[in-house]
Amino acid sequence: MRIVALVSGTGSNLQAVIDAVADGRLDVEIAAVGADRPGTGGVERAAGAGIETFVVDFGDYADRAAWTHALTQKCLAYAPDYVLSSGFMRIVGEEFIEAFDGTYLNTHPALLPAFPGAHGVRDALAYGVKVTGCTVHVADAGVDTGPILAQRAVAVREDDTEETLHERIKIEERALLLEVLAGLAAGA
Ligand code: GAR
Repeated sequence: MRIVALVSGTGSNLQAVIDAVADGRLDVEIAAVGADRPGTGGVERAAGAGIETFVVDFGDYADRAAWTHALTQKCLAYAPDYVLSSGFMRIVGEEFIEAFDGTYLNTHPALLPAFPGAHGVRDALAYGVKVTGCTVHVADAGVDTGPILAQRAVAVREDDTEETLHERIKIEERALLLEVLAGLAAGA
């Protein structure tokens, strides 16, 4: 199973995938790691692991459609079975969704459909929920929408900040992501 991973940030979830592949726990080939801007930790981690990387910088394109076209072509060139949004914080256009229909995966740090968007942890905390968690789903054209593949719950503590809660969610999120990828690699 070949994947292309897309990142916008530090790439700690991606690192868990890289590590699991490297020590034989996950039978997946990471064909490439791409970002929507230069200087991401995710691309740095991938390059350090000897994985091919690319940047399709949103700022270099006239509009979302032009950027989406470039990103779609770039990803298609690797002929991936799945494209994984691993903290890719950019909405992709229809062309990308159509090209990777049913094979674009996303991880999100909340129990979708609750608290979608860029601040899922902050929003859950602000609402005052006592349980939140993480979701791995097939992404469609919406913001963190599409069929849910798996979820894990995380209890919110009285003294949690966005940072402490996100760190605990990420522990579950990494495990969940590896579980889902292993299932898909095994043909589930
Ligand atoms: C992850 O928690 C991921 O779920 C979230 O960004 C974080 C990236 O962390 N994605 C979203 O909020 C998507 N709406 P990382 O760069 O350390 O893997």
